[in-house]
Amino acid sequence: MQQQISDKKRLLSGMQPTGTGALHLGNLEGALRTWVRLQDDYHMYCCIVDWHALTTRYHDTEAIGPACRQVAADYIAAGLDPDKCAIFIQSHVKEHAELHLLLSMITPVGWVERVPTYKEKRDLLQERGEGDESISYGLLGYPVLQAADILLYRATAVPVGRDQAAHLEISRELARRFNRLYGETFPEPQALITEDTGVVPGIDGRKMSKSYGNAIYISDDADTVARKVKEAFTTPTKMRKSDPGVPEQCAVCQLRKLYDSQGYITSWDEDRQGIRGCMQNKAELTEILNGVLEPMRRRRNDLLNDPAELDRVLKRGADKAREAAEATMKFVRAAMHL
Ligand code: TYM
Repeated sequence: MQQQISDKKRLLSGMQPTGTGALHLGNLEGALRTWVRLQDDYHMYCCIVDWHALTTRYHDTEAIGPACRQVAADYIAAGLDPDKCAIFIQSHVKEHAELHLLLSMITPVGWVERVPTYKEKRDLLQERGEGDESISYGLLGYPVLQAADILLYRATAVPVGRDQAAHLEISRELARRFNRLYGETFPEPQALITEDTGVVPGIDGRKMSKSYGNAIYISDDADTVARKVKEAFTTPTKMRKSDPGVPEQCAVCQLRKLYDSQGYITSWDEDRQGIRGCMQNKAELTEILNGVLEPMRRRRNDLLNDPAELDRVLKRGADKAREAAEATMKFVRAAMHL
């Protein structure tokens, strides 16, 4: 049945509609750019994983719907073409839930308890004093739901940032386990990690992340980008312009390298030699970032101002995804004699 759709290989990836849903430069450079590059040669399934957001935001569900629309607008603003790929919301394709349930039956608890992101989230919730009750069964099962997202499309590869490697490992192990138990059903999905980009730093030098409050968003206006870059951490030992900088330790220099693959070399040299100050670095980075982000901001605003068009895109995406998902589930149910 898979062959009926086409011989092109399938890729799936997803992002969480956390907070307002707006995506940041880490999402953009760590994953989304790769999706855009691959959409011509593969069947790309670009999921907005609203059920995953529930694993930590079950008490605040009202914001998740609008956040999904922000993610969709950012996907398209970054260059995903709804005519080429399926852009859809996870909860619109119920088969994700069915496969998640079936996979949960064959997932040893030890596998999910060992996942580093689970341990981090659990520790964070405990630190905040939110108590054991906030650590749900759903949170523990997060990587199983992610495996369902991927295996449902029989995706052969998953373009993601490096921080997703552990989750991908569980998806691969679950594919192997299912195939061993019930016969060959799923290909083992490979992680397609954007190695050259690595982990994009936030303005405080840690990994850019919504939860650290250190992110620059695609949706930030020009003044907000300028303000955030002004606040960004630079080489801690560089107090004056003439002090030598260490670009490897400077968030501004790191971001510059990401957006200016040629020009950064001179600026890094000058920084090292102490003939360039942080102010100049920041002013130039602001200009570069605003140049990149301005057309995206315009595109996302147009989309958000046309809710009917965004609805059509998401419906078309869900219909396309559902067709593939239903076909896989027929195999899965047959394999399990259900
Ligand atoms: P999420 O929403 O945290 O991140 C979405 C994508 O952005 C990448 N990323 C980064 N890359 C580089 N530097 C950063 N600072 C940075 N921050 C985020 C992530 O690696 C990711 O590729 N569990 C997933 C969502 C998910 C999923 C899936 C992904 C659910 N089902 C199926 C792939 C396939 C997550 O939380 O991503």
